Amino acid sequence: MRIRRTLSPTASPLCPADLWRGLKGFLAGEKYLRRLEEEITEYFGVRRAWFTSSGKAALYVILRALRSLKPDRTQVLIPAYTCFSVPSAIVRAGLEVALCDVDASSLDFDEALLQKSINEKTLCVVPNHLFGIPSAMGGIMELCRDRDVFVVEDAAQAMGGRCDGRPLGTIGDVGFFSLGRGKPVSCGSGGIIVTTSDVIAGAIEREFSPLPFPGGASQVGEYLKAAAMSLFIHPLLYSLPAALPFLHLGRTVFDSRFPVMRFSSMQAGLCMTWRRRLETAMSVRRRQAAMLRRTLDAARIAGDRSSASYLRLPFMTESRERRQMICSTAKKRGLGITGMYPSPINEIPRIAHRFAGLTFPAARLVADRLITLPLHRYVRDRDRDEMARLLEPLQCAGVQGRAFSVGMTSPGMAGRERV
Ligand SMILES: Cc1ncc(COP(=O)(O)O)c(C=O)c1O
Repeated sequence: MRIRRTLSPTASPLCPADLWRGLKGFLAGEKYLRRLEEEITEYFGVRRAWFTSSGKAALYVILRALRSLKPDRTQVLIPAYTCFSVPSAIVRAGLEVALCDVDASSLDFDEALLQKSINEKTLCVVPNHLFGIPSAMGGIMELCRDRDVFVVEDAAQAMGGRCDGRPLGTIGDVGFFSLGRGKPVSCGSGGIIVTTSDVIAGAIEREFSPLPFPGGASQVGEYLKAAAMSLFIHPLLYSLPAALPFLHLGRTVFDSRFPVMRFSSMQAGLCMTWRRRLETAMSVRRRQAAMLRRTLDAARIAGDRSSASYLRLPFMTESRERRQMICSTAKKRGLGITGMYPSPINEIPRIAHRFAGLTFPAARLVADRLITLPLHRYVRDRDRDEMARLLEPLQCAGVQGRAFSVGMTSPGMAGRERV
C-alpha cells in the first residue's frame, strides 16, 4: 500500500472540540437532543424535528406515517437515478418503488414524464436535490397538490441549500436530511425529519415514539467511527482507509434490513456546532465550485446554477469509457473524483426483475457518464488545476451542448414501474 496525498470525494470532519462535546452528550442524556431539536426547528422554520439513526431510517418513518394517512396508496415515485438507500427505505416500509426517468441535464425528474407517472396508487413523490442541486419544487408541488399526492423532500445531500429563498427540505409536505458520512454536516450517521404540517407531524410522532434509542455499545461504536472518520479524512491519511476494500468507502448498496432507531445524545453532542460547520462548509464549496466552473466546460456541469450549493460538482463526461479512464487516472493521482451510483434504480440486482421490459434511458446515460469533483476545504489550487487538465480534452472535442443528450428516448419505455 502506497501512502500518498489523496483527497476524499467529500469531507465534513469533526474537530477535537466536537469529539469532546460528543462525550459530554453521552453523559448529558436527552438535554443535548432537545437543544438540537430547538435549534433545527428554529433555523428551518418548522413545527418539529425528529432525529433518527440515518437518513434512510428517516425516510422509512416518513413513509410509514404517510401510509397510515392514506392506506390505499402503495406506490412511492422516485427518480430512476438516485441513491440506492431510497429504494431500500421504500422496500423496508413495505411499499412499492415506482420510477420516473430523469432529465440528464438537471438530474431532476423529467417533468413531462412525471405528470404521466403519477396514478391513483401514488402515495408520494420524492424529489431529491441530488448533490445539492435544488429540484423544481414549484412545479412538483403544484402537480402533486392537484393529484392529492404527498411530496417528500429528500434533502439528504442538500442541508443548508435554498430554493427561492426557502430552505430545501421544508418546501414539500415533509422532508429529511442525512447526517451520514460525506453529507453537508456529518457526525458519522443520522437523519432528521422536518415538517410544517400538523397532520403529518401527528402521524410521524406515532411512528417515531416506539423507536428505541441505540444501546451503550452501539454508541461507543458510532463514536469511534466518527473519531476515525475525522482523522482519516485528512488528505495525508485518506489513502489508508481508501485502500481497505472491506470498508466499502464510496460504495452505494441496496440493503432493506438497515436499523431504524433514534439518534443518540452522543450524536447530538457531536452535532452541537452544526450551524457553524454547515455555513462554513457551504461557503467553501460555493467558492470551489465557482473556481472550477471558470476552468471547466460549463455545458457539462449538471444542474449548473450559481445558486446551487453543491455538495460535489457533478460533471458529465463524453462516454462511459472516458468516465472510467478519468476515474482510474484520478484515483492514481488522489484527486477525489468519483463516479456516482453505478446503475439506474431499475438495474439494482435485488429488484431488477420488477422492472423487466422497462428502460430509463436518461438515468442510464447519467450512470454511464457522470463523475463528481470534490469541493471541500482540503481541495487546493493545484488540485483544481490538475482536475481541469484531466478533464480539459473534453472541452476541445467539439461536443459542447451534447453532454446530456440521450440517444433514444421513448416516453412509453421511460414510464414507471413497481417493486
Ligand atoms: C439522496 C439520498 N437520499 C437518502 C440517503 C440516505 O441517507 P443515509 O446514508 O443517512 O441513510 C442518501 C445517502 O447517501 C442520499 O444520498
